[in-house]
Amino acid sequence: MSVTRAVAIGCGHYLPERVVENAEFEKTLDTSDEWIRARTGIERRHFAAEGELTSDLAIKAARNALANAGLEASDLDAIVLATATPDQTFPSTATKLQHALQMNGGFAFDIQAVCAGFIYALSTANAMILAGQAKRVLVVGAETFSRIMDWTDRGTCVLFGDGAGALILEAQQGKGEAADRGILSTDLNSDGKYNDLLYVDGGVSSTQTTGVLRMQGQEVFKHAVKKLVATGEVAMEAAGVTASDIDWVVPHQANLRIISRTAQKMGVSMDKIVQTVQDHGNTSAASIPMALSVAVQRGQIKPGNLLLMEAIGGGLAWGAATLRW
Ligand code: UT7
Repeated sequence: MSVTRAVAIGCGHYLPERVVENAEFEKTLDTSDEWIRARTGIERRHFAAEGELTSDLAIKAARNALANAGLEASDLDAIVLATATPDQTFPSTATKLQHALQMNGGFAFDIQAVCAGFIYALSTANAMILAGQAKRVLVVGAETFSRIMDWTDRGTCVLFGDGAGALILEAQQGKGEAADRGILSTDLNSDGKYNDLLYVDGGVSSTQTTGVLRMQGQEVFKHAVKKLVATGEVAMEAAGVTASDIDWVVPHQANLRIISRTAQKMGVSMDKIVQTVQDHGNTSAASIPMALSVAVQRGQIKPGNLLLMEAIGGGLAWGAATLRW
């Protein structure tokens, strides 16, 4: 049986130039490189320069993905951009990206599911491709979380970083089998009763301010492992594969302890886990597409490999996707 699949045909990422090592936080906070490494696996992160916006990072990541795919922006039908740190309240950062790329047709919009944003964007793009609404979609995760930090809160400000990653999906025909290239399954979940565990204490309608990030870290941690294992299993079952079929897990890069505990519970060994958290910190929606792009550049992910991507964040919102590269 011939079925339409959304196949990955190119990826790219961009990290702002400024690298901030853990030790820098020791100057202003009661913290240490040792604590941050031991509790999170993070060693450094990148911060956007003054005046460098989420869209600026997205543009560079998108251009790298287009070059990697050998395409022009005019070859795209749509842009789906996941961010919780848009340039402006409106219009969407996606339309700014569309203009910067000189993509004169098609459509572009943002998706907001915080750290799960890339999985939500990927799932949306996949659904549009399967519905015949678009043939080639640029899916982007781009964030400047450095703009929503409380620099006096050592429990959060050492965790996050800035960056952008992009993936291009194209409609191709498959056989309806797990051996097909492209997205094989997606699984999305949210539960708004956990809003208070991870949020920003400002907003357009409430305070007319941007606000800063607030998190009950330990509580989020507990939900993270359980929910990531569950959504990963749902996505694998929907694709007709098991953990032993997975070549690479590309997890949301929030905390190495969450990543390793989830891997252990899923029965996947750590040498099959793409790890970038040490160099990127938690970059929210940008984390998975950046990790993907880095793993392709490192030569880890190869054509035909089966990938499991999974993420959780504010909402709580979480989800997973399987994709054959
Ligand atoms: O991407 C969105 C999803 N977010 C996440 O996945 C984050 C999930 N949570 C976590 O990753 C972890 O909970 C954290 C890394 C945020 C915190 O690690 P933890 O092992 O859960 O530490 P904790 O919150 O239980 O804090 C332990 C101690 C506390 O001190 P007391 O009360 O025991 O004296 C904290 O005040 O560590 C202290 N602490 C720090 N110490 C040094 C918290 N942050 C720091 C810090 N440096 N930066």
